[in-house]
Amino acid sequence: MKITIHGSGYVGLVTGACLADVGHDVMCVDVDQVKVARLKRGEVPIFEPGLEDLIRHNMEDERLTFSDSPEEGVAHGLLQFIAVGTPPDEDGSADLTHVLGVARTIGQHMDGYRVIINKSTVPVGTADKVHQAVADTLEGRQAEVDFDVCSNPEFLKEGAAIEDFSRGARIVIGTDSDKVRKLMRECYAPYSRQRDKLMFMDVRSAELTKYAANAMLATKISFINEIANLAEHLGADVEQVRHGIGSDPRIGYHFIYPGCGYGGSCFPKDVKALARTASEVGAPARMLQAVETVNDAQKTRLFDKLELALHGNLKGRTIALWGLAFKPNTDDMREAPSRVLMEQLWQAGARIQAYDPEASAECHRIYGERSDLCLSKQRDAALEGADALVICTEWKAFRTVDFDKIARTLNHPLVIDGRNLFSPEDVEAAGLEYYAMGRGASLQHPRV
Ligand code: UDX
Repeated sequence: MKITIHGSGYVGLVTGACLADVGHDVMCVDVDQVKVARLKRGEVPIFEPGLEDLIRHNMEDERLTFSDSPEEGVAHGLLQFIAVGTPPDEDGSADLTHVLGVARTIGQHMDGYRVIINKSTVPVGTADKVHQAVADTLEGRQAEVDFDVCSNPEFLKEGAAIEDFSRGARIVIGTDSDKVRKLMRECYAPYSRQRDKLMFMDVRSAELTKYAANAMLATKISFINEIANLAEHLGADVEQVRHGIGSDPRIGYHFIYPGCGYGGSCFPKDVKALARTASEVGAPARMLQAVETVNDAQKTRLFDKLELALHGNLKGRTIALWGLAFKPNTDDMREAPSRVLMEQLWQAGARIQAYDPEASAECHRIYGERSDLCLSKQRDAALEGADALVICTEWKAFRTVDFDKIARTLNHPLVIDGRNLFSPEDVEAAGLEYYAMGRGASLQHPRV
């Protein structure tokens, strides 16, 4: 099938490369000419395992092309995917400028039937707005050019996006048209061989499904973080509690890992946007507001622990920080807990020596050159001359460490672990003071 993807960001590139890989003729369009020129040379602007190879290979086989001309893109595909960004507005609602801009471009240039597919995460009701935007630009050509708009939310996780696209749990399509059902079935047939993964539903339910899925996952994380905080007050170990509750299949083990808060481009933005939509329609989502409040507070807990352990004395201290990305296998630092910690540390007059296997360049891009930030090239080099170690991301490379060496290298034998990577006994055996999230030694108020 001939397919056009508008927007060569994270979702657009993964969607385009994966659909090309199963044999479709895909054109990825972006208005950023520099980005498109780089992509044409096979340079992929984002870090995602396997993506660069997949793009190159499909370009060589001429199933995947790039263009900076939206007009060319509209001419190419029977299916027109919209995968442009929906950044949050000041008030937390999703900004639809780019989505509606693409819709108008499609309306202006299309010369025959097109299916317009919303892949971007957009508020419930956006498909209707896209329909209207296209219709408004047709200017008397309504009789010649028919079109449908459908919703096809993505459920990709950064770091596992190709796997998620190819072997995801479901493919949700929101439409009320039989013709669209047939075409989308054809588009996704290669992914639905083993079992039928396509779920057809009405457009608004599909749009809400995306938000509800992310809000549910974010709720699980804030819930376990609240239990972790409670465990510290009560002298319990949240890791044992996690095992205890996860064994119940109604609860399950997924997404109940306590930590220093969720980040990334999706959960924070989507929870806010859904809460905003809920208040707009007069049905305030109290739980979602709580999920967000708990998460914001969680991101400040590493600093609080550090401050308590060092008796409030952070000025002039050097803190080693392992993990800048919001999670492993990505260089993405959007809404990362590490950022909240770094900014609090700088505010308190501390210096940071940070190491991340992938996100150093991104950190430099965000914060620039500064005397109170040193980006180490090696994990253990970040420890040298530091007064404490804080772990923000659970990269594999942090899981196996020599605690004796850490104890010897740090000025002050203190480890604050935001991801519960180690057993407290092992760390403490090396003479390190160890504080994790909701387990072992506690820096909270006295036990009740
Ligand atoms: C998420 C959804 O998983 C995906 O389906 C959706 O399409 C986009 O948003 P992503 O943001 O890439 O994907 O990351 P994910 O792996 O889900 O992790 C999000 C955050 O939650 C990370 O900061 C992670 O550290 C945190 N997390 C996750 C926890 O703190 N505990 C957990 O148990 C799981």
